[in-house]
Amino acid sequence: MTDSLDPRAAGARRLRDKVCIVTGAGQGIGRATARRLGEEGGKIVVAERVDESATRTTVELREAGVDATKVLADVGTFEGAEAMVREAMAAYGRVDVLVNNVGGTIWMQPYHKYTPEQVNLELERTLYPTMWCCLAVLPVMMEQGSGSIVNLGSQSPRGLHRLPYAVGKGGIFAMTKVLSMEYGQYGIRVNTVSPGGTAVPDRITPRTALGGGMFADEPDNEEYAEYRSQMLEDIRNQQSIRRPGNPEEQASTIAFLASDDASFITGQVINCSGGQS
Ligand SMILES: NC(=O)c1ccc[n+]([C@@H]2O[C@H](COP(=O)([O-])OP(=O)(O)OC[C@H]3O[C@@H](n4cnc5c(N)ncnc54)[C@H](O)[C@@H]3O)[C@@H](O)[C@H]2O)c1
Repeated sequence: MTDSLDPRAAGARRLRDKVCIVTGAGQGIGRATARRLGEEGGKIVVAERVDESATRTTVELREAGVDATKVLADVGTFEGAEAMVREAMAAYGRVDVLVNNVGGTIWMQPYHKYTPEQVNLELERTLYPTMWCCLAVLPVMMEQGSGSIVNLGSQSPRGLHRLPYAVGKGGIFAMTKVLSMEYGQYGIRVNTVSPGGTAVPDRITPRTALGGGMFADEPDNEEYAEYRSQMLEDIRNQQSIRRPGNPEEQASTIAFLASDDASFITGQVINCSGGQS
């Protein structure tokens, strides 16, 4: 292991030999999570639709001595999610942890400015990947009689200018509760880490990249810039710790919930947001 992957918290190697799928692991919070779970002993399935970033994460994990497998998948469809789980099973024969990290705002504007197409694209980005991946992985975890699912939420359900994204994350909060209630009897825990604004300096793929490499048309005008600054000010005003978080802070919270350290915690949303909630 290199020092660069050294986790700060105590209790390292809590994921020893656990097979962990991390979706969207090519950059940002997903990449930091793959590194953290790998450092803690996990075998990592790097699930990502962009080959360049998937390769970057997989190579750096392997160089650090982590057992990692790259799986190129579009988890925006059930077929993609199913193929991802199939490839993880082919590689390791089980799935202990699923981190549903794929998601993210595409546009920031008051709701009346959204077109119906934009609303659909926001839900396809943020709501459906978690739904499809849960649907695909549950039979495997039920058969094992164990599993830990960690979803990514957001503070947007009580913030400005991202209503479709906020609805997607609200759906993820609902999934967290309902799935925890339905599948606790199979030894499956389901929790959500809800980040506040988190600085992501390593993006290869912009938020505005849609499926198939297409880029969304983000308005480049003063009005749109003003919406964005109102949204950021709204976030800062709600925080006790008035700075952006970093991906490693999200990853350490995710690692806790993924691990057996959280064995009696399910159906919960943990805010990792500098006090915003
Ligand atoms: N960064 C923040 O400030 C912040 C704040 C709150 C919540 N979150 C949540 O945390 C999660 C990660 O955020 P981030 O900023 O690190 O994301 P990001 O946009 O930087 O990275 C997402 C990754 O997912 C991949 N991806 C997108 N769609 C995919 C698909 N259909 N199939 C497979 N891979 C796909 C992208 O290629 C990219 O590598 C998201 O769910 C986001 O909503 C982030």
